[in-house]
This record gives sequence, C-alpha cells and structure tokens, in this order.
Amino acid sequence: MNFFLDTANLNEIREAAAFGFADGVTTNPSLISKEGNVDFKQHIAAICEIVQGPVSAEVTSLDKDGMVREGLEYSKIAPNVVVKCPLTKEGLRATRELDHQGVKVNVTLCFSAAQAILAAKAGASFISPFLGRLDDIGENGLVLLRDIIEIYENYNWKTEVLAASLRNPIHVIEAARLGSDIATMPFKVIDQLFNHPLTDKGQAQFLADWQKSGRK
Ligand code: E4P
Repeated sequence: MNFFLDTANLNEIREAAAFGFADGVTTNPSLISKEGNVDFKQHIAAICEIVQGPVSAEVTSLDKDGMVREGLEYSKIAPNVVVKCPLTKEGLRATRELDHQGVKVNVTLCFSAAQAILAAKAGASFISPFLGRLDDIGENGLVLLRDIIEIYENYNWKTEVLAASLRNPIHVIEAARLGSDIATMPFKVIDQLFNHPLTDKGQAQFLADWQKSGRK
C-alpha cells in the first residue's frame, strides 16, 4: 500500500519523505489555505520537488470548462501533478476530458460505491473515498472502502483506490487489510502509527538494566 501525505505543509512532507513514507501527496483548498497566503502553483511546485510520486492539485471551478482549463494549467507545473476534480456531474465531465488529454485525475469527495463506479467509467486515475467524514455522520467509511475495492476487482479499470479522510491508525490498518492501493493521511496519523506504550516501556527498561550493570 502506498502512503500519501494529506497535507500541504512542506516541513511535514520533508519529514515523512525522509522516512520513505511519502509516496505521494494529496492537497485540497482547505489544506493549501492552512499554509497562509502562498502562491498555489509555486507551492505545488515546491511539493513536487520533494516528492517524486503523484501530487494532487485540486481545481476550484464549478463548471467543466473551468476545471479543464485549471487542470491543464496545473498539469504543466510538474510531470507528477495529478488534477483533483470533485465527484459532481461537471467534475466527471472534466475528468473524462482531462483523461482524454493525457492528464491524470484524482476524483475526490466520493461517498458511495455508485459514485466510485461512475468515476472509474469517466477515466479517473484515482478515486478518493472519504472514510472519516462518513464515520463523522454515523456511517462506516471502511464498508465503503471494502465495497469499492470489491467492485473494482471485478474489472480491469485503471482507477486506483486512494483511501482518504483517514483519522486514525485503525483506518490505515484496515485499509491495508482490504488491499487499498493507497492510503492518504495527515502527518499526525503517521506519528500515531509509530507509537506503542510497550515499546517505550521496554526501551526504558533495557536502558535502565544496561546502566545498572555498570555500563555506560
Ligand atoms: C483527500 O484527498 C482529502 O484531502 C482529505 O483526505 C480530506 O480529509 P478530511 O476529511 O480529514 O478533511
């Protein structure tokens, strides 16, 4: 399973990349806004200098032509830029057009298996089901992920499943168990994956025993 960083923060991306945990990056308008008044294209370019894998840059137009125009512009920033389009009718029309023009699209804001089927048919390179946001409203995001993976396995569609809106280690572990192609997560979740109190306790005990025996 590839790990993508769900952030636009360059320090976090650099830190994860140093561990080999940044196979790609997903951004969205909210994440870019968190970085302050940065120039969007320059910022995406800076991310692409750190990460060789796919870097998602999201369009903000509402109509197909606007999305295609933005998408073509963003695809020139770097060869690894992937254009992110929303799962709306206009978004899927733009996905089809961009795909025909050789631009990879990550279809975002997917909340149902039906939507995921449409995105694959439209030529999406990635589909992003939002697990955490479904959990937030009392549904089960992992059930959606399982359904999409099961459906996609029946066909030779090129669309990769990108588990998104991951909020905790269980999301990541279960996405891996289900065979998701990619999991995108905030840096905080990567940090949570490291932690286990018995590792800390065990390490402290080893060092204490080492010192007790007179070694330095
Ligand atoms: C994915 O590409 C989205 O940017 C992201 O996963 C959304 O996560 P959130 O629901 O935590 O905002």
